[in-house]
Amino acid sequence: MFYDTHAHFDDERFNEDRHILLPQLYEAGISLINNIGCDVPSSKASVALAEQYPFVYATVGHWPGNTGDMTEADIDTYRSLAAHPKVVAIGEIGLDYYYDDVPHDHQKYWFERQLALADEVGLPVVIHERDAHGDGLEIVRKWANKVPGVFHCFSGSAEMAKEIVRMGWYVSFTGVVTFKNARRALEAVAAVPMDRIMIETDSPYMAPTPYRGKRNHSGYVPKVAEKIAEIKGLTTEQVAAITTENGRRFFRIPD
Ligand code: NI
Repeated sequence: MFYDTHAHFDDERFNEDRHILLPQLYEAGISLINNIGCDVPSSKASVALAEQYPFVYATVGHWPGNTGDMTEADIDTYRSLAAHPKVVAIGEIGLDYYYDDVPHDHQKYWFERQLALADEVGLPVVIHERDAHGDGLEIVRKWANKVPGVFHCFSGSAEMAKEIVRMGWYVSFTGVVTFKNARRALEAVAAVPMDRIMIETDSPYMAPTPYRGKRNHSGYVPKVAEKIAEIKGLTTEQVAAITTENGRRFFRIPD
């Protein structure tokens, strides 16, 4: 059994077949999936999917690139959604200086505002951080003792991964670890102890080799486990079991 801790099945690329695909994935051994919110509509869609499928859980929050017009009313919406029993985290929140559409100070403000919300409602956070390692860590250092967190689709160095682990947080890896030029990601995998690793697809993005460039889905998460197993000297089954256990503990999924 596998736990895909980060996917976007509300994405329009699944409009044709999400209700065919999701039960098939469960049958195929993907026993838990987090559907991740990026703004208010996708957060509500995540909750709706979680209500429909027992093995799907939801997160709610504004992805940094969407914070341009974020308001306190959105925080209020997330506060009420957070009370839903299947909402397991605030996310994906963070900083993205790669696309750079939203001024950095603005992204930082709403990142911290959503960290404060997570602290208030007692949920962990799912972090999206791209090309903003310095500012991202600076903010996370301030909050790490109050709010548990995971860096999703981790793209930092081994050093940064070690610092995240020292703060008591988790690191999650996607199909990027299977890419040919993945040296940096593999060094990060090697640096993180097994009890702090989670796996994810980030579907429909980030399809692993040999599906790179195609639409991704949770059925490819074993490819991520396989690569991590290779680096850690474990079997894919062991990695599947440990990362599922980590995810259940972190997101407080009931037995
Ligand atoms: Ni995502």
